Amino acid sequence: MSSVVLIGAQWGDEGKGKLTDFLARQADVVIRYQGGNNAGHTVVVDGRTFKLHLIPSGILYPGTLCVIGNGVVVDPGVLVQELEYLKREGILTDNLRISETAHVIMPYHQRLDEVQEERRGAYKIGTTKRGVGPAYMDKAARTGIRMVDLLDREEFEQKLERNLADKNHLLGVYGSQGFTPREILEPYLKYADQLRPYVTDTSLVINEAIAAGKHVLFEGAQGTLLDVDHGTYPYVTSSHPTAGGACIGAGVGPTKIDKVIGVAKAYTTRVGEGPFPTELLGPDGDHIRERGYEFGTTTGRPRRCGWLDAVILRYAVRVSGLSALALTKLDVLDDLDTVRICTGYRYKGEVLKEFPHGLKALAECTPIYEDLPGWKQDITSARSLEELPPNARRYIERIEELAGVPVAIVAVGPGRYQTVTVTPIF
Ligand code: IMP
Repeated sequence: MSSVVLIGAQWGDEGKGKLTDFLARQADVVIRYQGGNNAGHTVVVDGRTFKLHLIPSGILYPGTLCVIGNGVVVDPGVLVQELEYLKREGILTDNLRISETAHVIMPYHQRLDEVQEERRGAYKIGTTKRGVGPAYMDKAARTGIRMVDLLDREEFEQKLERNLADKNHLLGVYGSQGFTPREILEPYLKYADQLRPYVTDTSLVINEAIAAGKHVLFEGAQGTLLDVDHGTYPYVTSSHPTAGGACIGAGVGPTKIDKVIGVAKAYTTRVGEGPFPTELLGPDGDHIRERGYEFGTTTGRPRRCGWLDAVILRYAVRVSGLSALALTKLDVLDDLDTVRICTGYRYKGEVLKEFPHGLKALAECTPIYEDLPGWKQDITSARSLEELPPNARRYIERIEELAGVPVAIVAVGPGRYQTVTVTPIF
């Protein structure tokens, strides 16, 4: 038995969806524990591409129980659409469970996300405008609406009216239009009926599964540097993508977690605003973007691309207590003569080995690179370390030395089985 947390070690989009899908084969339960439909997980199975935003990627296996934990913010309209999409694709969704204490994203959250982002002007965060930040704001302000409230018509109506008084006032201040209770009430009560069969006490479900010796996988969304506490604040999301978030967002104690795997791309990408020391603005960045299809699953935005940054990986190892790394998209670097790894930052004449928290300092950091020879070979059919060219292995070994943890998995293509397992996770 084991319970494994899988998190993003960089700025999100590390390929967690593919990895979760790969590991879900052996998992009995897969849990999303934070974020909302700002996330986008792409999974390719037998040439069919699935794009999921809220439902754990484990849903593609008929026997796997999939849980949307209390730490997730749920847009019920999006969830209903995703359920319908999966049903159309012939995927069974009976194995989904939704936490009764997960907070609900309301239409005013989404509108506020848009208008507040617009008002920030030059200081904009680059949010996905899905209402995720405003929904977490209400949770912390203790005015949020949870799934359990949505399912109770009277409770929902009362909370909605109370909240609308405030939100409509705020939207008016921003020069935007408010909502009538009716225009929200009707569709949301319909969603409530559609989602009711799935809603339960998911902390209980997960803890029972752990006690029964099942394999449990916690699927993080976004990444370490987007964590509201540990990321590049304020250019972060409003939840905890780091490993600690799994305990809070699923309702399990830290003593129940056996392993934490950090998923890292073989290079670095970022969407949205904020400093990015190893960003490549020229042809090398374009090459990675094109070869790696680096365009957002949720917003379609081109991702900013750069070399692998070992300072970030060491930081992810520290704040999440990573047991190992899963390195993804190594094949994207196949054509390059030279691959570079950032080993530290130069800042005001000093060498920094640790990630600085002042954004001004981070923006002024210049990366110190180590160059390694490329492998100039197609690696997409490799299924073991031995089948990888020596220079690709050298790159992996150097990453292990710099990060201080082993690489347990290497992904060499988007397909489910384009994966090299160095050390089994379960
Ligand atoms: P929000 O989560 O929509 O509030 O956006 C806050 C920041 O997190 C922005 O920089 C987004 O681009 C980034 N972000 C949110 N979700 C993802 C994701 O799944 N992958 C990568 N970046 C994300």
